Amino acid sequence: MHTLSKKLQALPPYLFLEIDKAKRKARAEGRDIIDLGIGDPDQPTPKYIIEALYKAALDPANHRYALDQGMPELRRAIEGWYKRRFNVSLDPDTEILPLIGSKEGIAHFPVAFLDQGDYSLVPDPCYPPYKGGTILAGGKPFLLPLREQNAFLPDLKKIPTSILKKAKLLFINYPNNPTGATAEKDFYEGVIAFAKRHKLIVISDLAYSEMAYDGYRPSSILELDGAREVAIEFHSLSKTYNMTGWRIGWACGNKELVAALAKVKSNVDSGIFSVVQIAGVAALEGPQDYVAQMCALYQERRDLLVKGLRSLGWKLPSAKATFYLWINVPKKFTSIEFAALLLEKANLVVTPGVGFGKNGEGYIRMALTVSKERMGEAIERLKKIK
Ligand SMILES: Cc1ncc(COP(=O)(O)O)c(C=O)c1O
Repeated sequence: MHTLSKKLQALPPYLFLEIDKAKRKARAEGRDIIDLGIGDPDQPTPKYIIEALYKAALDPANHRYALDQGMPELRRAIEGWYKRRFNVSLDPDTEILPLIGSKEGIAHFPVAFLDQGDYSLVPDPCYPPYKGGTILAGGKPFLLPLREQNAFLPDLKKIPTSILKKAKLLFINYPNNPTGATAEKDFYEGVIAFAKRHKLIVISDLAYSEMAYDGYRPSSILELDGAREVAIEFHSLSKTYNMTGWRIGWACGNKELVAALAKVKSNVDSGIFSVVQIAGVAALEGPQDYVAQMCALYQERRDLLVKGLRSLGWKLPSAKATFYLWINVPKKFTSIEFAALLLEKANLVVTPGVGFGKNGEGYIRMALTVSKERMGEAIERLKKIK
């Protein structure tokens, strides 16, 4: 009766809903599910952040519409955090825009720059909103396969000139979801030069900048010369401070790009709840030892899971960052078949790689978001199925 818009019809199916359905069904049957599928920290938000939220919530001044461009205090807190973390100076008035979680900013950004039929260059596999945001803006994603033999970095030389002529945006995401891959400064240098040459806007998603192990510290593209001419970077408090449900993040970088996103958003939302913004200031300016503690915990879990899986003969790299392991599935299975097998035989939930794009076929993703005890149990169950 009602016809969906062509844009909505063009959106790829959301595989994760199917996985959720299978998971709920298994739970309803009373099975003891170990969920390695979710990219959502299992540990609580630190207490000092919750206390800031509580205190702010008692003040009626914080119950009203918030400022679209975010409180000056929050933009200054982001400026300070950025300077301390990356030694990059940002203008809090023009180069920083708080977001209701980075997802909405990433999904809204293409509206600002794509016209019907323009291309976004999108890594594949990837975090789904790069494609979704492009399609909802009337654009077309051109997929850049991320392959193991290329350390899961896109091969920019392979993009046809005919596509480059119609491409406006280039998405990059390191540390990477779902592959766990990382990128170094020489990669960013290449990206900046490429973007300048082909008049592209670089969208760098740094949601996992603080989740890294063995002393590794991910870089920001904005540390590099020339980045500010072409790049906007997206950050999130979700993973760093265990605040996924709170919805707070930010965009920063080139001021025209930041202003364009602010213009889109001023027509769509009315800013982040002030109480959450005040809690965000507490998170960014408070003691940061919790972040290090979380990394130590994920690192222990990573070591345990990698060791356990290797002891079963599985071949997999040990992720240097993010809380994901990206694992090859045995040749005779598709990623969906293998995930279904693990659910059926071992009550384990994992994410089939194809859910992140067709180049994710042949892999599953496991998240380090369950306790070491449960991971040990997962390995025991896998031992039994062979
Ligand atoms: C790569 C990547 N970017 C961005 C996000 C979104 O984070 P949020 O909207 O909670 O800030 C996620 C969440 O899983 C992610 O994996």
